[in-house]
Amino acid sequence: MAVIGAGAMGSGIAQVAARAGHRVLLFDTRLGGAEDARKRIGADLDRLAQKGKLDPAQARSIAERIVCVHALGDCALAALVIEAIVEDLDAKQELLSEIERVVSDRTILASNTSSFSITALGARCRRPERVVGMHFFNPAPVLALVEVVSGLATSTDTAQCIYATAQRWGKKPVHAKSTPGFIVNRCARPFYGEALRLLAERAADVATLDAVMRETGGFRMGPFELIDLIGLDVNFAVTRSVWQAFFHDPRYTPSGLQQELVAAGRLGRKSGRGFYDYAKDAQPPAPQSAPPCPAPLRVIVHGKTDAASALVERMTGAGIEVQEAPRHPVLGDGAIETGPGWLVPTDGRTATARAATAGLPNVVVFDLALDYGRCTRMAVAFADGCDQDAGNAAVGALQKAGMAISRLDDVAGLCVMRTVALLANEAADAVTQAIATPQDIDAAMCDGVNYPRGPLAWADTVGPARVRDVIANLGAHYGEDRYRVSPLLLRRAASGTPLRAS
Ligand code: NAI
Repeated sequence: MAVIGAGAMGSGIAQVAARAGHRVLLFDTRLGGAEDARKRIGADLDRLAQKGKLDPAQARSIAERIVCVHALGDCALAALVIEAIVEDLDAKQELLSEIERVVSDRTILASNTSSFSITALGARCRRPERVVGMHFFNPAPVLALVEVVSGLATSTDTAQCIYATAQRWGKKPVHAKSTPGFIVNRCARPFYGEALRLLAERAADVATLDAVMRETGGFRMGPFELIDLIGLDVNFAVTRSVWQAFFHDPRYTPSGLQQELVAAGRLGRKSGRGFYDYAKDAQPPAPQSAPPCPAPLRVIVHGKTDAASALVERMTGAGIEVQEAPRHPVLGDGAIETGPGWLVPTDGRTATARAATAGLPNVVVFDLALDYGRCTRMAVAFADGCDQDAGNAAVGALQKAGMAISRLDDVAGLCVMRTVALLANEAADAVTQAIATPQDIDAAMCDGVNYPRGPLAWADTVGPARVRDVIANLGAHYGEDRYRVSPLLLRRAASGTPLRAS
């Protein structure tokens, strides 16, 4: 096989292939580029050997299997060519046509492009059925996900062969159709977009929103920490390219706030400052947590609590007496009466809207948790007219159950619920458009961006009807097409069928 382009991705891919036993021809137009990459790979393999993760003899033989070549013609015998050159459509199209002239008709031409249509890449080739996307994630030797992307002309055999090859290389491949962002770069947009929107609406500061996403939502990193790591400019460029590719669909509208930070040169870790300050003497900001509040002796749970039953169990375990009562006619199932106040799970409306509809001023809404039995933090919001003592009783009940409480401004859908609902909505749209199967989308989001649960599986746990209501309520609140409900979600909510059902 051959790898063309020996930069960050090409060298990683060459390492993966050589480790799987292939002889890899490595080519780069930059003089000495392939040799530099081979040195980097050798050093990386030596480090693995020093750490005991690789036998030293094995490390040497892997490095020896990578051969630097200095002309495309040297790749004539390769059965698979993966290009990882600069992200420029003309350059890639030209290269693929050139390679086609030197290799056999049976050779598969794979592109590691993050953003270009595989259909467009194959369009100028003589054998577009042999052109396919093989999208690795950075760093390729570490991250398991590979998106196998089929353009309009890509043959099933070609896609299957690349899928099987990725599996043999120890990767976790998924099939995807060639559409903007493929699976991960598209389906992850709400993770960043909603966080940026919450920040713009001053729901809370970055450290608090990140802490809620980690400690309540179970995500490994908060959105702002992650954007700082990716680079604000890179993350902004991906959002903008997906937005443009979808003809300015408001679902993907980039954030003006992020644009300002990019303009200021605050690009994240690499520039020393992004959402956070990485200066040596900078103190990392602490998330905002409510001061301790007295807990009520008794709460009354109205109707079914579903997933939040674990939260009620925690209250019982902490010594709060829990009584049961029928469903509240307006606040619905799962409303918890905490003396003068009402603690209700968010349904995408603000606490103020819920209070006005119910004619009860003391409403406090609480967020979705990955696991109500274990989360260490909970986001809440008070209705505008909520009495301070009533609000504090609700906060005290949650604190007594063992959670730090972050009080957000009264934003619709809070933080985790809003994000998860929109991630699932995006994934549901990708399923509707046959971009990938529900199982592959969930696997891609877990393997590619480390989500604690696939968005579709998560929505099934919450209940498709509830997720639909959250998004519909967000849509009514903002009056924006950004919050339109996916047809598949509407259908599954109506039929009561899980989103992951085939
Ligand atoms: P890079 O800039 O590190 O490496 C590109 C290499 O290609 C350079 O060494 C350059 O000299 C060489 N090159 C340019 N034109 C060439 C040509 N015509 N023939 C041979 N070599 C040529 O870029 P990076 O980050 O490795 O990205 C490569 C590709 O992988 C891009 O398509 C990018 O979108 C994609 N990608 C990048 C990821 C990342 O996180 N960096 C993640 C996944 C995909």
